[in-house]
Amino acid sequence: MNRNHFKEKYGPWALVTGASSGIGLEFSRQIAALGLNVILVARRKERLLSLADTLEKAHGVETLVVPTDLSKEDFLSGVQDATKGLEVGLLVNNAGFGTTGTLLENDLETEIKLLHVNCRAPLILAHAYGNPMKTRGRGGIIFLSSVVGFTAVPLWSNYAASKAYDLFLSEAMNHELKGQGVDVLALCPGTTEAEFQEVANTKQVMPMPAAVVVRLGLKKLGHKSVAVPGILNRLTVFFVQLFPRLWSRSVFGKAIAQLRKP
Ligand SMILES: NC(=O)c1ccc[n+]([C@@H]2O[C@H](COP(=O)([O-])OP(=O)(O)OC[C@H]3O[C@@H](n4cnc5c(N)ncnc54)[C@H](OP(=O)(O)O)[C@@H]3O)[C@@H](O)[C@H]2O)c1
Repeated sequence: MNRNHFKEKYGPWALVTGASSGIGLEFSRQIAALGLNVILVARRKERLLSLADTLEKAHGVETLVVPTDLSKEDFLSGVQDATKGLEVGLLVNNAGFGTTGTLLENDLETEIKLLHVNCRAPLILAHAYGNPMKTRGRGGIIFLSSVVGFTAVPLWSNYAASKAYDLFLSEAMNHELKGQGVDVLALCPGTTEAEFQEVANTKQVMPMPAAVVVRLGLKKLGHKSVAVPGILNRLTVFFVQLFPRLWSRSVFGKAIAQLRKP
């Protein structure tokens, strides 16, 4: 990837949600290594401060820590106040979490929070920061979807549906912004090294390194509308799209039942 081109196209500031862990932390690292200043958003302030310090020392970039709970109704005003005057050329809508279990047995409040963090917040941030990008005629937005965004998944019903939302929103925005200088990508990983499984209460089987997932996302931005890291994940998505959804629903449901922790 050409560092100068990346900076010109997506700089000077990137905003990464969920920067305190896993894929978002790795996005922050790789984006800083490409020379962009980074706005770090998540709830765990201490982790963000420590990451900010590391990125500034390692890459000589500027950082801004904006501790935020994206499930809150009015989260945007705090983020916008903190970033006032900064030109955000790259938005990584990464923050998200999953829940495991049958929907009716799961806690409704948590499921609503999931919708807010995984869907509502990315929508609001894309609208808030995408409009200035469109006016400037340059920029990029990455949405974290998932392999499970391509199908319904029993025991992950709300989570998989939220990732389908991210995938379709991203793909449609990519189309709407064609020729206007703003690139939109849906990044759809399978199991990746992160805290995701711990939060979702599932086992982690053969995870991909977050660094590999992020590298592919940054490479495909501006070239593709959807990127699926890893040959096995690409094969899975291929078969999910080839066969009736009844098949994938059943296969994924059985897999999550196996991975679910007692
Ligand atoms: N890991 C996988 O296997 C996998 C596979 C496919 C897709 N994904 C997607 O990748 C994205 C990143 O997840 P990850 O795998 O890196 O998991 P992770 O390590 O658990 O990271 C999740 C991030 O989201 C943030 N977050 C969660 N709730 C939040 C809230 N209410 N407000 C603000 N930030 C919040 C967390 O920060 P705080 O807790 O500090 O707020 C954390 O930084 C998610 O959208 C997930 O759906 C992951």
